[in-house]
Amino acid sequence: MFKEVKTAQEYQDVLLIRETVFIEEQGVSREEELDEYEHTAHYIIGYDEEGQPIATARYRGIDDTAKIERVAVMKAYRGKGMGKKVIVAIEQMAIKHGYRHFKLGAQTHAIPFYESLGYQAYGQVFMDAGIPHRHMEKYITDTEQL
Ligand code: COA
Repeated sequence: MFKEVKTAQEYQDVLLIRETVFIEEQGVSREEELDEYEHTAHYIIGYDEEGQPIATARYRGIDDTAKIERVAVMKAYRGKGMGKKVIVAIEQMAIKHGYRHFKLGAQTHAIPFYESLGYQAYGQVFMDAGIPHRHMEKYITDTEQL
């Protein structure tokens, strides 16, 4: 269901989801959405049975930490476990590349979602793209996940 993005078409599908979710639905500007890490981050993409793109995320390696960003599930597919699958898939990809520590900036409404995946919030609320966020992190120590 989820695959590492390797082709220009798959990257276009990632952008289609982000355009729909972050720019149209959440009102983030295109300038903020498309950042300087576009071409160095690692992406995953998920498709439905008809081949429509439905979920995506990316990570960037910062020292020994994988920073997870741009997590999005198309509205019609939310609340069905798809978001959880996206996070597991991006974590697995980063684990394969040697990462064991993950962090992300969670929109505050999504904190319970990330907590259900083992992330813990720390620090104060901060604003990013006009949306309140908190930092969250997780260490993977359970060898069953490796
Ligand atoms: N509040 C509380 N719990 C939530 C939640 C919310 N807003 N969204 C999901 N959860 C919980 C679910 O109840 C579920 O818990 P369970 O496993 O105990 O049943 C768990 O988190 C996984 O939910 P899931 O169905 O996999 O999540 P999803 O497919 O709806 O995806 C988002 C979650 C946040 C990725 C999705 O809502 C989304 O794309 N939102 C718009 C973009 C966005 O805000 N991205 C996050 C940026 S930090």
